This record gives sequence, C-alpha cells and structure tokens, in this order.
Amino acid sequence: MISRIEAYFIANYTNKPLLIKAPGRINIIGEHTDYNLGYVLPAAINKGIYFAIKGNRSSTIRVESFITSPEQIIFDIAANSTPFSSFWGNYFKAILEILVEKKYPLKGFDCVFGGDIPIGSGLSSSAALCCGFIFAISQALHIKISKEEIAIIAQKAEHRVGINCGLMDQYALLFGKKSHALFLDCKTLIHEYVPINIKGYSWVLINSNIKHNLAVDTAYNKRRASCEFIVKKMKAIKNNVSSLRDVSLADLKKIINEVSLVDYKIARYVLEENERVLKMKLALKNGNAEGIGEILLDGHWAMSKEFEITTKELDCLVDIGEELPGIIGSRMMGGGFGGCTINLIKKELLNKSIETIVSQYKLRTGIDAEVYHLQVADGIQVINLAQ
Ligand code: GLA
Repeated sequence: MISRIEAYFIANYTNKPLLIKAPGRINIIGEHTDYNLGYVLPAAINKGIYFAIKGNRSSTIRVESFITSPEQIIFDIAANSTPFSSFWGNYFKAILEILVEKKYPLKGFDCVFGGDIPIGSGLSSSAALCCGFIFAISQALHIKISKEEIAIIAQKAEHRVGINCGLMDQYALLFGKKSHALFLDCKTLIHEYVPINIKGYSWVLINSNIKHNLAVDTAYNKRRASCEFIVKKMKAIKNNVSSLRDVSLADLKKIINEVSLVDYKIARYVLEENERVLKMKLALKNGNAEGIGEILLDGHWAMSKEFEITTKELDCLVDIGEELPGIIGSRMMGGGFGGCTINLIKKELLNKSIETIVSQYKLRTGIDAEVYHLQVADGIQVINLAQ
C-alpha cells in the first residue's frame, strides 16, 4: 500500500516525498473511561493510514485521498474554506484551522494518503487520519510539534467534526510499542507498557460488519453528557470532584435518588470499567489467560446491559464465543454501536473456533463476519522504504 501511494505521489506531484505510517489501534479494555479521566489499555496495530508528503514552496495545500477513487482537496492557508463533502476533508480542514490558530508556521505542501484500516470498525481510523496528518506536516515542514501536542490537536479536530472523544486513540497510536499494550492514566497522561502476548493464545478481532459513525450518531456524545451530569451532581455534595475519576461507588450511591437510573448505571459502569482495566493490567502481567477472559466478558456484558452501547450482532458474537471452549473471552471494542469484538483464543483451537464463530454468526444474523489476525505494532513513524 505505502509503495503504491509513493508511486502515485511521484507520478502526480514530485519526487521523494516523506512517508509516514499512522497505525490504527485495538483496545484490550477501558471503554468510555478516557474522557472520564480513567484508565485505558489500548495498543497500536499493523494496519494504518499512510501519507506521502512534501513541501511545495507555495501557500497552497493539496491533499489527495487514495482510499477509494482518487479525490483531491485544495486548501489555501490564507482563505477560509467551506466544509467539504468528503468526510476526511473536514478532519484536515479542522486540523489546518487549529494549526493556524495556534500560530504554527504553515506553508504549502502536497500530500497523498491511503490506508488499510477498515473504516467504522472501532480501530480508530479517524485518529490515525488526524494524528498522521499532523505528524506528517510537522516532519515535512520541519515544525516542532510534540506527540502530546499532536494528540491534543487531533482530539480538538475530532471535537470540531462532531465526536467529543477522549485521548485514548491518539495516545495509543502515537506512543504504541510492538507486542505491548499501553496502560494510560488519562488523568495524569502518564503511560506504562504492558506485555500483551500470552503463551498459547492469540488475540483475534472479529468484525460484526455493522459499521458505526460516532461523529454522526449522537449516542457517544450522550454517554459523555450523562457522565458530566453525574459529575455536576457530585460536585454539590463532595469537594474536589472534577471528573468521575474523583467519584467512588459509595459516593455514587449517595445521589441515587437524585438522578435517573440510566445516568446512574452509566456512571457506575465507568467506575467499574476502571477497576477492570487495573485487574486486566495485572492479569496480562501474570499471563493469566483465564483471568483475562473473565474480565473481557464482564466488560462486554457491562457495556451491553449497563452502558448500552453494543448491538445485538456484537452480543451475538460474544454469546457464540461463550459457548466455544477455544474462546477464552471476548468483548466489543471501541466507542460502540458496531465494529469488532476482540477475542482471546487458544492457539490449538484457533482455526476451529474461528470457523465456528463465523458460520454460527452467519446462521444467526445472516451477516458475513470478517476476521483480522492483527499484530501489535510500534506507534507512528517515518517509513524508509529502502530499508
Ligand atoms: C472512541 C473515542 C475514544 C474512546 C473510545 C471508547 O474510540 O475516540 O476516545 O472514548 O471511543 O473507549
């Protein structure tokens, strides 16, 4: 893919672009905890968005998508452009506007990008798009932007496009490390690497092929609004509360009669999910496959029954897995309402388990699932094809 993008760039623009890979991410556990300043355990993967980029000594920015049929967008640094019809154009527009607002010395450049992250599958294609674009600009135009700052700018761009996301995806793909998950404390933004490979087991993703678009659906933002509402209520009865991170289950019980059951369950889910992340970190360190499986399943059913962000198809995939001896545990992964499950599967029963889950899923839902044997890879990087 990257060499095709490079060849296309050379044929249509100019020689020797800089090449960048921004990976997608998986998440072992910790959903909707990031914007509540809790814990997450994501990892960067070997699928990504790739950029070829080079300064063009003008004030024009030309960006071309290689994802489907070639589609080009032109920005003028000095002019305010109106929204684009392509979804990716609006992410880039938001990023360029933020860079200008922050007074980074932007100059003209040409950029071609493409990728192999399945879109709308909970693998963070939009964070890869945003972080990759900012990183590519900083490298091509020699503008110093730290990874921490890239994460903030990318998050801001997503907020402008419509999803009030946290920082998990950006940190995972900027700081990811091969064979490791990134344990991130979203309050301090300090991270730690945790080995992810468990002897005798494989991590496999199964795509339900129900696609989500978190920036268009309001359900993601509604969950966040519920969490913020609970924080507001807690502030009235407890000092020093600025997020759900400062709230305990015992605190939460004190306001049970003042909030709706839906909001109460949403907040309780977040507090319990943080506990699950801590338990998972320990289970991974100890290579405790059974423990990992249990935590995955607890996490899934909490997302299904308490937080209500799964779909019947994702529940079906997890149900089938629970019936199979080779699948130690699985759960829906990402923001919700579609996408993939992440599964820990016994290596000796790998093929049989996958065959059964895919055929049973087809039988029960009529949908063809897709299976990804992903590898946990390093984070964002400049690629040297000669190597
Ligand atoms: C999306 C968001 C993240 C995070 C997850 C859910 O991927 O971009 O910030 O909230 O959903 O864990």
